[in-house]
Amino acid sequence: MKIYYTVNEIQEFINKKRPRPLGLVPTMGALHKGHISLIEASLKECPVTVVSIFVNPTQFNDRHDLESYPRMPDKDISILSGILREDDMVFLPSEKEIYPGNEREVVFEFGNLDKVMEGVHRPGHFKGVVQVVSRLFDIVNPDFAFFGQKDFQQLTIVKELVRQQGRNIKIISCPVIREADGLAMSSRNLLLEPSIRSKAGIIYKTISEAASMIATHEISEIKDYINKCINNTNSFELEYFEIADDAELKLVENRSQMEPGKRYYGCIAVRADKIRLIDNIEFNCPVSKG
Ligand code: PAJ
Repeated sequence: MKIYYTVNEIQEFINKKRPRPLGLVPTMGALHKGHISLIEASLKECPVTVVSIFVNPTQFNDRHDLESYPRMPDKDISILSGILREDDMVFLPSEKEIYPGNEREVVFEFGNLDKVMEGVHRPGHFKGVVQVVSRLFDIVNPDFAFFGQKDFQQLTIVKELVRQQGRNIKIISCPVIREADGLAMSSRNLLLEPSIRSKAGIIYKTISEAASMIATHEISEIKDYINKCINNTNSFELEYFEIADDAELKLVENRSQMEPGKRYYGCIAVRADKIRLIDNIEFNCPVSKG
């Protein structure tokens, strides 16, 4: 594998080789099996893959979260050296490389997509995500880009970004990879105190139970149930739980609003002591077709 730190270096290599299709896996590092699953999907699909590692400051609405975000480039490089092939690339840019000051300004107009869930609770977050993803697309110009279903709302917004900018990039969504107790893998899990980590399986357990309640319970009952399960767990606090479709992210208030043929996801954000965790699970539409 090759490691590049500057835009000029990586573009020179990409232009020389012209590898097509070219896959891009954007990450913020502290790599875990969730990231690896995206990389493996790209390796399968594309003869050349770029993995970017950049902790993007503009998407952090909380300074403490940015400062404490795990950074372990040497360990990441060693993990990647075990899976990437000769011509695959690791892109490890500095902030100056990503934001030199003359990069193209991105229009941020996503209607409802950034006005719900994470958009409400992390003001400015998606503006930062869109800014960095658009910049990485400009630099790498991939044919395929791989994103995790773990960040459900991010995935929907990135698909819309590609549509709005008329880019010829196929966004591939990859399933959530979980720990043995169901906790969705996340770089932030490293920050959980052992006593909190041991209880964190409650998040997936609760949304899984909620997903099976949809056939027989109203949304308000499901929300009450989730509220009770999470808030009754010591040091855990529910920030939100919403059910939304995966295209417009319209929040469902009543089961009667769910339409057959659309896909719905129950999305949760929990404060586990000092650490904020998100997860989601598919909710089947209770009304069958025909
Ligand atoms: P990061 O949190 O490092 O995640 C990088 C990619 O890995 C994202 O597409 C995310 O959805 C995916 N991912 C994380 N945990 C996963 C899991 N348990 N299972 C499957 N996929 C998982 O998301 C970001 O970084 C940033 O916002 C980024 C897109 C890189 C822009 O800065």
